[in-house]
Amino acid sequence: MSRPPGHPVSLTEFEADVRAGLSKADQKELYSKYLYDDLGTALFEAITLLPEYGLTRADLRLLDGHARELSNWCVNLSTVVELGSGSGEKARRILPHLVKTGPLTYCPVDLSGAALNRCVRDVDDITGLKIIPIEDSYISGLASASKLRKAETSMLVLFLGSSIGNFDPPVAEQFLIAVREKLKSGDVLLLGTDLVKDLDQILAAYNDPLGLTAAFNLNLLLRINRALGANFDVRQFEHEARYNLADQRIEMHLRSKSDQVISIGSGFTVTLKKDETIWTESSYKFRPEQIRSMSERSGFSCEAQWIDEEWPFAQSLLRITSLHGDRRAGLIE
Ligand SMILES: C[S@@+](CC[C@H](N)C(=O)[O-])C[C@H]1O[C@@H](n2cnc3c(N)ncnc32)[C@H](O)[C@@H]1O
Repeated sequence: MSRPPGHPVSLTEFEADVRAGLSKADQKELYSKYLYDDLGTALFEAITLLPEYGLTRADLRLLDGHARELSNWCVNLSTVVELGSGSGEKARRILPHLVKTGPLTYCPVDLSGAALNRCVRDVDDITGLKIIPIEDSYISGLASASKLRKAETSMLVLFLGSSIGNFDPPVAEQFLIAVREKLKSGDVLLLGTDLVKDLDQILAAYNDPLGLTAAFNLNLLLRINRALGANFDVRQFEHEARYNLADQRIEMHLRSKSDQVISIGSGFTVTLKKDETIWTESSYKFRPEQIRSMSERSGFSCEAQWIDEEWPFAQSLLRITSLHGDRRAGLIE
């Protein structure tokens, strides 16, 4: 299997991000993309099976219901790129339908090598499918994948699981603009987004009684211990998920249970007061019209929007239009 050069997470970048995030004076933070080492990836997969976490099942129901229809929207399709593929469970639902129209290349893009391995195993028995996994960040991976496709053919980009909700709104728009810059006329983006819903339902999804989400969150500290020689004691932290009503987002934090000083490698220490938190992830929730307007501002038109009623969740089918003014993607990866 050929593997284009990717840019897996480098230790120096990880260390620089951790140091910068934990040096912040007001709210300490860590990037959520670092939650997905091998153990984090396995824990996330387990979370998707929790009865309280309806998001993945809603995404899958929509894919099952619209997989055939999706192939009608993609004319002369040669390449499917999945950004942050995780396991191949979602692609598995649609690729067998898409490959019926001709040979297809599937490029899962993910920073987690463990996720990519699992993804390839999930889809490698589909006849007519060439799989090229790309271990890289979203936009850099998309750029590599788009160079592989033949001229005059189209590309379908999947960004599912509401991963766009991990970005703050201005960054989400910059991200869509960066995706759009890599696409050509005729290409399609299928965007999965979790919708605003009942507060108890949202909070239960991120505060499961088994403690899987807590383990997923705390594992980030263990990853820092393992990779950067830090001495976090995870028993001195607790998982906290709160809903910020005004900003329509779940925030995941790690709350310090005591005053403590942590060393990270040599020569760097972090001081945390009792009850101070490290912010590890945001998961924004959307209203259907917010998705359409965000897409339009980013140079897409929303041609179809499918909504799961059981667990309010939307998939939006976006096609590129022209961008008004000079809106470049900036430094989004
Ligand atoms: C919440 S999981 C979603 C997985 C899958 N798309 C789904 O819907 O279930 C996010 C995935 O994106 C990957 N990821 C997170 N940030 C990334 C980035 N900046 N570039 C590439 N992959 C990233 C993670 O490693 C993880 O596998």
